[in-house]
Amino acid sequence: MEKILEVKDLRVRFPVFGGVFLRKIAEVKAVDGMSFDLFKGETLGLVGESGCGKSTVGRAILNILHAMNYGVEISGQVLYHDSGKTVDLNQLSRSQMRPYRSAIQMIFQDPYSSLNPRMTVGQIVEEPLKIHGHYSKSERRDRVVWLLEKVGLTSRHAAQYPHEFSGGQRQRIGIARALSTNPKIVIADEPVSALDVSIQAQVINLMQDLQEEFNLSYIFIAHDLSVVRHISDRIAVMYLGKVVELGPGESVYKNPIHPYSRALLSAVPRPDPTATHEDRIRLVGDVPNPIRKPSGCSFHTRCPIVRPSCSEEEPALEMREGRAVACPFS
Ligand SMILES: Nc1ncnc2c1ncn2[C@@H]1O[C@H](COP(=O)(O)OP(=O)(O)OP(=O)(O)O)[C@@H](O)[C@H]1O
Ligand SMILES: [Mg+2]
Repeated sequence: MEKILEVKDLRVRFPVFGGVFLRKIAEVKAVDGMSFDLFKGETLGLVGESGCGKSTVGRAILNILHAMNYGVEISGQVLYHDSGKTVDLNQLSRSQMRPYRSAIQMIFQDPYSSLNPRMTVGQIVEEPLKIHGHYSKSERRDRVVWLLEKVGLTSRHAAQYPHEFSGGQRQRIGIARALSTNPKIVIADEPVSALDVSIQAQVINLMQDLQEEFNLSYIFIAHDLSVVRHISDRIAVMYLGKVVELGPGESVYKNPIHPYSRALLSAVPRPDPTATHEDRIRLVGDVPNPIRKPSGCSFHTRCPIVRPSCSEEEPALEMREGRAVACPFS
């Protein structure tokens, strides 16, 4: 399989300002050495509790963090491969990034706030085409109708406003907008978390159909392992800015190795008869504040199988049973 994206040792630190002079008093290590690949046409599920850095990884890939956050520090590589060429997106300025903006698009969690309420659906879907595309006005109109039909809406919806639609329909509008520029990669940041369970499956099925039709590569972000399970070829489990386990979706779901992956899964009710329930692990407490990341293995403060050395040595990802795991004791 061909790689389309390689993230190498990505680190993102947000400054925390304080005191009378609003100096930098601390930093949040939101992403702290993330490495993973994305293959053409695959879905990589990215899961972890709130605050572990999932959205920041997505924004770092899109290279929009500098524009959004004063003083943010980013290191590592985001290698994008296309037509035999490789470019490190992390090194690009805003203007150099332009040609790649259309290739990598994002779908957001909240289909209520992510669509401009003052624009018609037609204008919302057309907007990226105006910025990135080389289409005439009539070509854009045709493409908007075509896109609306692709996501299960119709041309008559183009004149309506977002508030006239249900959550599921709004997410379809968000998907149409993301697809307007013919992207290669779509980063879906909890795209169904705000939707009713009955609607979630419809939106996921739509995303899968579109993936097949357009050979899209997805990074699918979620809290809930049961959501990513069905759509992900591979799953990466994240804890405090790092990958702790990465492997084929079914095996990570059915037989997680890292104590954190196992704990995350224990939180999910599983109707799966092949899964073992005896060794349930309860996650105690909240994710530690990333301003004060625990030393060594950052999961050691909550780990049920913690050993004395865990607070000293940071475990590297090692290949085991066909996947990468950052825990020598599990
Ligand atoms: N602009 C910012 N300035 C300071 N800290 C930030 C900023 N954005 C994110 N953070 C911090 O970085 C960490 C990671 O945040 P991020 O939003 O990436 O997590 P997440 O995994 O997407 O969480 P959620 O599941 O709640 O969406 C959190 O501790 C968050 O508070
Ligand atoms: Mg998030």
